[in-house]
Amino acid sequence: MDTPVAPGSTTSRSVAIICGSTKGKRESNHMTTLISSKMNKGLSDQITNEFHAAHLYLAMSCVLQDMGLKMLSKWFTHHADEERAHGMKILTYIQDVGGTVTLGTIEKPKAKYPSAESILKAALAHELLVTDQINKLMATAISMKDYATQSFLQWFVDEQVEEVAIVSEVLDLVRLAGPKNMLQVESRVGKLLAAEG
Ligand SMILES: [Fe+2]
Ligand SMILES: [Fe+2]
Repeated sequence: MDTPVAPGSTTSRSVAIICGSTKGKRESNHMTTLISSKMNKGLSDQITNEFHAAHLYLAMSCVLQDMGLKMLSKWFTHHADEERAHGMKILTYIQDVGGTVTLGTIEKPKAKYPSAESILKAALAHELLVTDQINKLMATAISMKDYATQSFLQWFVDEQVEEVAIVSEVLDLVRLAGPKNMLQVESRVGKLLAAEG
């Protein structure tokens, strides 16, 4: 187990008291850390990865807006918001288990695409990349017998299945419609957006 670190939130303090291993140290600003430094770093890096996905999808949304595809643009903004929420979910978890959050650099997103199809293809490739990142984190949690993090990451494993499926569905729509029938795609994506809330 790592050297205890400062808690990041009120919730963290309550975890420290509940876990009992801080007996005799409650006056200290430190708490027991429930995750290894390797797991902590992997999760912390994933926050940056999720924010990177949000940044990328927001840039895609702006390109789609410039193409006049307002519904697709909104759909990408919605997904950018979801990626940011994923990052925040991980950040809260790290703090709840007494870890330390270190944010990394987010690279400048690509801002030019030749077509809506190329954007959807790039988005699908990115979702597959994130799926791989999540799977690697789960593999680390399993190898370290970190049951709490395995339980936490299961939500992300399931979420990636859904995200790959929905991005594939929209890519198929765009391919089937072709560049001349994008208004039909706009209408279908509008319904998807309403369903996603
Ligand atoms: Fe995500
Ligand atoms: Fe995603």
